[in-house]
Amino acid sequence: MASHCHATVAAVVVAAAFAAVVAESPPHMAAFTFTKEMLSTCQEKSEISQEMVDEMQKNKGLLPDESSVAQRCFQECMAKEMGLLKNGGGVAVDNIVTVLKAALQMASEGSEDTYTIDTDAVTRDLEGCQFEGEDDECNNSHDTMKCLRSLGNPENMKRYITKES
Ligand SMILES: *[C@@H]1O[C@H](CO)[C@@H](O)[C@H](O)[C@H]1NC(C)=O
Repeated sequence: MASHCHATVAAVVVAAAFAAVVAESPPHMAAFTFTKEMLSTCQEKSEISQEMVDEMQKNKGLLPDESSVAQRCFQECMAKEMGLLKNGGGVAVDNIVTVLKAALQMASEGSEDTYTIDTDAVTRDLEGCQFEGEDDECNNSHDTMKCLRSLGNPENMKRYITKES
């Protein structure tokens, strides 16, 4: 879980999953973040260079080369560290919903507006990205991350998030 805010490197690899939440809604909302520790754990496991990490950050989490097993597995590692995917496979639906709710509540507290999230709709869509099992080349998790990213579009955000002033 990403609770070490002081060591947080901006929400990035998973600007992936819910980038649009951050863009569309409350100012300063960061739902999924990662720490330097998570980064180095995954860098060591997948032998990804710092330059590659920088490039991914610039790309909002998109892999510079989708055909690279190392990059796909690095993405899988980060997604697990951030609590988007479960160890052993599958989308961490409950955790994602909890984190989004908490982030919106925090954003509401720091603003004159109140943001609420339609948890049923989000849960349903996250479950649509569900997958069973992992593979050595991190293909299933890569497909899943693409699916999660595709949820973060402005139309969905309008369905998911309600703002009351
Ligand atoms: C994973 O995907 C790549 C690229 O699409 C493909 O070449 C490879 O055979 C796949 N590996 C597995 C284990 O399915």
